[in-house]
Amino acid sequence: MTASDPLHNPLRQGLNDGRIPQPCTMVIFGASGDLTKRKLLPALYSLARDRMLPSQFNVVGVARRPIGDAAFRTSMRESCDKFARRRPVDDALWSTFSEGLFYCDGTFENLATYEKLKLQLDELEKTRPTGGNRVFYLSTPPAEYPTIVTMLGKAGLINREKDGPSTRVIIEKPFGHDLASARELNETVHSVMREDQAFRIDHYLGKETVQNILVFRFANGIWEPLWNSKYVDHVQLTVAEAIGVEGRGGYFEGSGILRDMVQNHMFQFLCMMAMEAPVAFEADAVRDEKLKVLRSLRPLPEDPKELSRYVVRGQYGPGSVGGEERIGYRQEQGVAPESKVETYVGIKLHIDNWRWGGVPFYLRAAKSLPKRVTEIAIHFKKAPHAIFPQSDNRLGKEPNVLSIRIQPDEGISLKFFSKVPGPTTDLMPVPMEFRYGTAFGAEPPEAYERLILDCMLGDGTLFTRADEVEASWTWIDRIERAWAKAPAPKFPNYSGGTWGPSEADELIERDGRTWRRP
Ligand code: BG6
Repeated sequence: MTASDPLHNPLRQGLNDGRIPQPCTMVIFGASGDLTKRKLLPALYSLARDRMLPSQFNVVGVARRPIGDAAFRTSMRESCDKFARRRPVDDALWSTFSEGLFYCDGTFENLATYEKLKLQLDELEKTRPTGGNRVFYLSTPPAEYPTIVTMLGKAGLINREKDGPSTRVIIEKPFGHDLASARELNETVHSVMREDQAFRIDHYLGKETVQNILVFRFANGIWEPLWNSKYVDHVQLTVAEAIGVEGRGGYFEGSGILRDMVQNHMFQFLCMMAMEAPVAFEADAVRDEKLKVLRSLRPLPEDPKELSRYVVRGQYGPGSVGGEERIGYRQEQGVAPESKVETYVGIKLHIDNWRWGGVPFYLRAAKSLPKRVTEIAIHFKKAPHAIFPQSDNRLGKEPNVLSIRIQPDEGISLKFFSKVPGPTTDLMPVPMEFRYGTAFGAEPPEAYERLILDCMLGDGTLFTRADEVEASWTWIDRIERAWAKAPAPKFPNYSGGTWGPSEADELIERDGRTWRRP
C-alpha cells in the first residue's frame, strides 16, 4: 500500500470505521439542477474513487427534460471534470462508475413519473441487483418536497417496515420556511415513512471541522471543566461570506440570511458547541442533547423595539470586496429594487441552563463582508487578580480566546499571554495553533461525501431530526414576526466589503465587548 492509495488516506481511516454500505440505488430528484452537478455527483465519484461505495451501486437521475441515459452520463462527466475534489477524473474508474448512471424523465407532480420510475428500478434490479435498497435524494426546489414525498408513498416506493429492503429519503434544506410549514412537511414525511428513514440534510454537519467540535470537546477531558459560565465570558459565532447572493436573488428574497444561515447551519454548530456530552456518539443520543440546547434558547421579545436590543439586521449596498467592485443587494438579479430582505443579522442570545446561565452568545451571519470566515470564538474571563499591573488593561481587553475555525484555514487556536523576551515584564498575546493542513497533510473530504455515505449506512447522527427543526423554527419565527411589525428598515445600511452596519457594533459594544475581526 502506498501513501497515495485511497485506503491509506489518513483522513479516510476511521471514516465510518471501514463500514461499507449495503448495495443500493440512489434516485436523485432534480438531476439537472445545480446541486446535483456541483456537489452530489462529484461526491459520489469521490466515494467511488476512495472505494467507499457499496459493491453494487446505481444512480437514477429524475428530471423533466427527456435526455436519456447517454446524455445524462455525459453531463455528469462534465460536472465531475469541473467540480470533483480530485481531478483529473480517472477514465477507467469513470467508465465503470458511469455504467451505473441512469436517467428517468418526468414531472414531479405526475404519479405516472413514479410508476415509470418503479418499473425502471425493478428492471435495474434484474441486471444490477441491490436487494431493493434505495435512497431517494430530494434536490429540487423546496416547494416540490411535499409532492415528491407524497407521490413516493402513493407509488409504493417506500418500504416503511424495518424488515426487508431499506428506503431512505434525503431532504435538502430549507426544511420549511417557518414553524407551520416545517410541521406540515414533517407530517407529510411521517405519513409515508418512519422518522429514522428521513435524512434532513444540513451540509455544515458534514464538514470535518463541525464534526471535530464534538471530538475536541468529548475526546479530551481538559476542556470540560472550563466549558461553562464560571470560565467563559461570552461566545462569538461568525459566518461571514465575501460573496453576495450570486444569482440566487430570487431565492434569497423569500428567505433572508436569518432563515438561510442561522436557523440551520449556525444553530447546528451552536448546538454542538453548547450541548452536554451525549451518552454515546449515536444518532438519538446526540440529537437529544442538541434539542435540549434549542429548547433552552431564551425566547426573544416580540416587540420590535425591544427586539432591537438583541437582533439587528442589515443589507449590503454597492461596495468593493478585495479590490473588486460589487453591486448592492438591490441591484442583484431577481431582487426587488426596494427590497427589505436582510443580508446581515447580528444576534445576542442566551442559553438558559445551568452550564450557560449568564453567558451571552453573539451570532452574526452576513453576505458581502471583507472575507469568508466561519468560526466559533470562546472568550474566557480574565484572570481573577492582576499581578502584572502594567498590562492589566490589555489583559482585560484581549482575554484568552479559543477559536475554532470552521473554514477556511481550518484549525483551532488558543490565544494566551506570554512574556516578551527581555529585561522587563512586558506581555504579548501569542497563539497556540492546530492546523488541519499541517497536521493531516491531506485535503478533507467534501461534506456531501460523508453525509451521503452516512445515509447509505442508515446513520442519522449528522442529520437533523424533526423535533430539532421545529424547535429552531419556533425561536426564529419570533424574530420574523417582530420584524414584520417593525417600521421598514433603512436599507442598504452597510457597504459591500465592510464588516456590517454600525447597529451591529452597538449591539455588542453596549455590553462592553467588541466583535472579533478575524
Ligand atoms: C447554503 C446557503 O446553505 O450555504 C448559502 O443557502 C450559503 O447562501 C452556503 O452561501 C454556504 O455554504 P458554505 O459551505 O460555502 O459555507
